[in-house]
This record gives sequence, structure tokens and C-alpha cells, in this order.
Amino acid sequence: MQASTAVPLLGHPGSAAAATAGIQIHSGRHRGDIDRKIFGNFIEHLGRCITGGIFDEGSPLSDKEGFRKDVMAAVKNLDVPLLRWPGGNFSSNYHWMDGIGPRDKRPKRLEMAWGTVEDNRFGTHEFMDYIEQIGAEPYICLNLGTGSWSEAQQWIEYVNGSQDTAIVQARRKNGRDKPWKVKYWGLGNEMDGYWQMGHRSAGDYAAFALEAAKLAKLTDPDVKLIAAGASNFRAGSDWIGWNRVVLETLRDYADYISLHMYVGNPDNDYADFVASPIEMDQKIDILAGLINAAMSQRVDPRTGVPMHDSRKLYIALDEWNVWYRARGDSQRGRRILEEHYNLEDALVVAGFLNSLVNHADVVKIANLAQLVNVIAPIFTDEKGLFLQTIYFPLQLFAAHVKGTSLDVLVTSPSYDSKRFNKIPYIDASASLAGQDLVLNVVNRHRDQPIEVEIGLEDRHFGGGVTVSEVNGPDIKAQNDFGKSVVGVRETTVSASGSSLTYSFAPHSFTQLRVKTA
Ligand code: AHR
Repeated sequence: MQASTAVPLLGHPGSAAAATAGIQIHSGRHRGDIDRKIFGNFIEHLGRCITGGIFDEGSPLSDKEGFRKDVMAAVKNLDVPLLRWPGGNFSSNYHWMDGIGPRDKRPKRLEMAWGTVEDNRFGTHEFMDYIEQIGAEPYICLNLGTGSWSEAQQWIEYVNGSQDTAIVQARRKNGRDKPWKVKYWGLGNEMDGYWQMGHRSAGDYAAFALEAAKLAKLTDPDVKLIAAGASNFRAGSDWIGWNRVVLETLRDYADYISLHMYVGNPDNDYADFVASPIEMDQKIDILAGLINAAMSQRVDPRTGVPMHDSRKLYIALDEWNVWYRARGDSQRGRRILEEHYNLEDALVVAGFLNSLVNHADVVKIANLAQLVNVIAPIFTDEKGLFLQTIYFPLQLFAAHVKGTSLDVLVTSPSYDSKRFNKIPYIDASASLAGQDLVLNVVNRHRDQPIEVEIGLEDRHFGGGVTVSEVNGPDIKAQNDFGKSVVGVRETTVSASGSSLTYSFAPHSFTQLRVKTA
């Protein structure tokens, strides 16, 4: 875990004096292997995410299948390793058979999660085609709300089966001979939430999901299952109790348990908001503890003997983002959840990504919610698109952070906010793949640069350091159509020996990439 030593606040907001800090790195001090699936994304049948976002039949900007070509280029540039679909809340009343066969013959259904009509023109085949084109791995969320065990089982058979069954024949008839072999399947979405169609108590959900999990693994033993962990963190909800019951029931079948996290800045309190990733650290640590407790109590069901095998269960943070402006019932309909992000949101997103990397040993899947238009890094209209501020940190992490997560030791001046004490101004994560060291740094200070002495304890800098800085004129700066004020500025600095002093600009996210020896 990132250690931080509190030192007194330096200067006053607005003063020119740079504060100082330190980051110590040792390649032997690490947090495990980084699974690239933590830089995943998510598309839901919601507002203009799919229809009007990635899929726009009839648009001059789309290809013959209906995929928006400009959006696909921006998506490809994000290096999406894993894409979750079809929801979200939508998945809890989605009947997958509505979305196969000739597009014009598919039924229109009342869509009750978000208050529209679903035309089902984008279904399993379209999703899998999109996946193949962007080179991501698919992650499908089953309907464990209004859906049945057989419906869930048959979806897996349709997608992954190769035997001569009626279900597999249907897939072949619909144009796909080879099974897709989708590995990641969600056992429902946010089933602890009272808002969820088919919401159940913890015990009822766990018992239902257990049978669905058995059927899934009997259909295809290679599937990996994500149990629905708690998502309702409102005061009074027993989210720890929910996770405990789900883990104790599903620990022999589930491979992941989900965690969702959305944060916002409704009181316009920058200092507190930019520290939100600390809450993610805390939630991950609590859930990791619950996983350890549940896994340590496994017994062989036939003999009652405690089991100490190597079975592991990881965290899937399969929805996370900043989301607070475009919320609420008035948002139901077509143009919904369309957040317009600014620089401070991008700093929070960078901090979340640091948290994911710093928990690489326990978090193996994460999906920024969502990909296009709906709380998203890419924003379209019928003529084009622009890249929101949050696009840039995600792009830099996905493109460059790989290998081993290093346990960086941060010494930083700190401050207190409404929710947190001793918040380090400098928040960091690092990765090492072979010789390639990547250091990700958020300077949370609104007004001051912070000079950081970066020390390599067992390696040397091997020359030029590529510096990518995400910043803008002020923390409220936003991009828009035809206006790009927040982006990435690339420079290089040289470094040799074992230490480098770098001054991180106020309200910035900076990634340093360097070869080490
Ligand atoms: O991502 C938007 C919504 O947030 C999802 O549909 C749901 O799972 C969560 O509440």
C-alpha cells in the first residue's frame, strides 16, 4: 500500500513557493501482477450509449453494420481490454432471445430500467462483432432479475456451445458457426439495489445465483463468473452483510465479486472531491478482507474437512466513475446520464486508476462506466465527437501501465477535508514491465506545483523520460465540440543515476515513462 508521511502544509494557496515531496521505488516491493482487464469499459442499452453512440444505423458516419467509424477509432485508441454489456440495470429485464435473428424481425419491448422502448437491433451478434473489431474481451452480464436459470444457461450455450443442440443450431442459422467462447459472465447486476428489477434479499439472491452458477459451469467449465456484490452504499444499507452472504454462498463457484463506485462533487468542494479515490481504497480493502474471511472458511461439502487449496476470488470493480450531475428520474428518456466532464473529474479518474493499480493483487477486473455519451469519455452528436477530459488518464493507463504493480512509498505534504484526514497532495502508482518503468502521479494541489524527488532504490534511470501531462487552464475546464482545452502535453526530460527531481504542476495528472537498468 502506498505509504504517506504527513508533513506540514507549505505555503498558502496561490503562493509561488513549490512544496516538496518524495517517491521511493524498489522493484522488489510490489503489489502483484497487473491484469490489463482493470482498464476495461462498459456499454449499456441506456440513453445514447449504444444506439446513437457506438451504433447509429443510417448515419453517414457509420459502416454497413451500423457502427460509427469515428467512435470506433476513438474506442480503439483507448485500448479497451474488456467490454461489459448489456447493462447495468438494463440487464435485469433483458431477454437475450429478443436480440438475435434478422434485425427487422426483432421485437420491440418496454424498457423499464431507463424508461424507453428497446428495439433490440443491437444484440448478441452485434456485440460480438463490435468486440472483434475493437480487439477487446467480452464480458456479458446475465439477467438474474426477471430472467430464469434456463434463460441464463441457454445464453451461455448459444454463445459458447459446440454440440449439436437446438440452441447451437439457432446460432449457426443466425450466421455464426464457431462458438465465441466468452469467458466472463456476470451473475446479475446490483441485485442488492431496491431500484433493480428483480431485486432480492442477500440470501435469496445468493441461493438463486448459486444455481445459475452451477448451470453456467456445467454448460462451459471455462467460464469465469462475477457475483453481484453490494452497490447500495446509502446510509442504513448493510452492504458488508450482503457481501458476506454472497461470498459465503458462492465462494466455490464465483471467480469475482463486483463492486460499484460512483462519486461526485455536488457541494463544489474540490479539496474533498479530489480525495475521493481514498474511498475506493477503503472499499477495496474492506471487500478484500471479506473475501479472505470467506475463503478461509471453505470446507469440502462431502467430508466437512476445511479446504486450503489455491482457489482464488477477486474483485471486479465493474462500474466506476464520476457521476452526479445527470442523475434522477427527470433524466429518464433518450438523452440521459450525459455528464459533461471537467479537469477535476479527470483528476479523480486518474486517482481511481492509481487505486486500481495499487490494488493489483486483489482487483483483476474494472470497467469505467460507460464508454460513449452516457457518463462517458467519448461524446458524440450526429456530426462528430469530442473527447471528454476523463478520456486522457484512461488512455494513458491502458496504453502504458502493465507488468508488476510497484508499492511506491510516497512522502507528501497533506491536508484535511470534509471527509478525510491527512490527504497526501501527491497520489501515485507505478508499474514495471521488464525495463519499462511507468510512474503515474496526481498533484491534487489546486494552486501549487509540488517538487518530487523520485528515487530508485535498486535501479538506474536509463536516459530520456517521456512525460505526458493531463492538465488545463483551471479545474473546471471542459472540452466540447470544437474546443479542446484539456488534453495531453508530451515532453521529455533526461534522467540518469538513481534519482530525478520533477516538479508536478498544480491540478495535474502526469505519467512518466522511462527505461531503467
Ligand atoms: O452506469 C449507470 C447505472 O449505474 C447502471 O445501469 C447501474 O448498474 C448503476 O446503478
